[in-house]
Amino acid sequence: APGSPAATPPLGWNSWNTFGCNINEALVREMADTMVSSGMKAAGYQYVVIDDCWFNPQRDPDGTLQGDPVRFPSGMKAMGDYIHSRGLKFGIYQVPTEKTCAQRGGAYPGSTGSVGHEEQDARQFAAWGVDYLKYDWCSPEGSLEEQVARFTLMRDALRATGRQIVYSINPNSYHAIAGADYNWGEVADLWRTTEDLLDIWQNGNVNSYPMGVGNVVDINAPRTAQAGPGHWPDPDMLVVGRPGLTLTESRAHFALWALMAAPLMAGNDPRSMSAEISAVLRNPLLLEVNQDRLGAGGRRVRDDGATEVFAKPLADGSVAVGLFNRGDSATRVATTAAEVGLRGDRFDLVDLWTGAGSATTGAISADVPAHGVAAFRVRGGSPITGTTSQLRGVGSTR
Ligand code: GLA
Repeated sequence: APGSPAATPPLGWNSWNTFGCNINEALVREMADTMVSSGMKAAGYQYVVIDDCWFNPQRDPDGTLQGDPVRFPSGMKAMGDYIHSRGLKFGIYQVPTEKTCAQRGGAYPGSTGSVGHEEQDARQFAAWGVDYLKYDWCSPEGSLEEQVARFTLMRDALRATGRQIVYSINPNSYHAIAGADYNWGEVADLWRTTEDLLDIWQNGNVNSYPMGVGNVVDINAPRTAQAGPGHWPDPDMLVVGRPGLTLTESRAHFALWALMAAPLMAGNDPRSMSAEISAVLRNPLLLEVNQDRLGAGGRRVRDDGATEVFAKPLADGSVAVGLFNRGDSATRVATTAAEVGLRGDRFDLVDLWTGAGSATTGAISADVPAHGVAAFRVRGGSPITGTTSQLRGVGSTR
């Protein structure tokens, strides 16, 4: 959105996918510590985002929002100070409606949403040192017009504080793909494109909760053309390292999110992650692709059903390529330099998982395990510009 602090997709950690409502200040402090000790911070992860269930169910008599006195006894300003003392940034969750998702579902008491309190809450967040707001439309009610109006109110309230606060919205809780074609990049710095992603590979029941990696890819891939500095389609937080995915699936999920220029919000427990999962999340070559300053969202340039090809143009003229095998048996996935948008007769490839280099006159292929992604950076030649069919992307949603 105009004035956005998110020149590249935000990187961080969010409490929801592993902890749900079971959060408190000691846990969040440990997470901040672990972001540093695990090397996540050094790899670029910045935001520590406290999701639903952090607030006192009762506002103060003057309407002021507070942290839950039992879960966050030191208060939210102290929580932010601690996160900042670790060189990280502080994110928090709120809703534009009356009840948060947990309040709606009865998992948490009260009715503390921001409706009618937008400016007061924005000023409070700024006073606490909040650097990132996740603002979640958790209601089956509301037209697209109402959503746009309320999300815009909070955007303006945040910008009016003078503090740089990344604005992350979710128009899709309870709304299965609300306003998919709306230009949310005018309103927010990132916006959810799907319902919640769980740690499953693919749900046969498309377009509804819960979604697996394959479902989210199908909905988000046609939206990546909207990506750019300050406006990022958000296919939801990462389930990398969550128990429902195999290591191969976690790797594929991470590579696809990196290629789609998605915000990368780790959702695992970094205190107990395996060395392999840590290496996936900290893969420097894929993070460089994700954080490339051009900000192009990778397009699906080929869709053969079980196998697909993604291509993300990068600022130096090279292209990052993902060879995706969605299917249940290993297979060879192939593309060409021309198909990913490069003209020429000699190219260098760097494998984005191993760093190994190779050369090609144009063919790009790999044997990809079931539910896997091979990824390369292709350098050389010159970008094919204009409206070639190769660059248009395959926009089908299955
Ligand atoms: C919705 C959001 C999730 C999470 C929960 C919290 O489901 O989509 O990301 O914030 O609410 O209750």
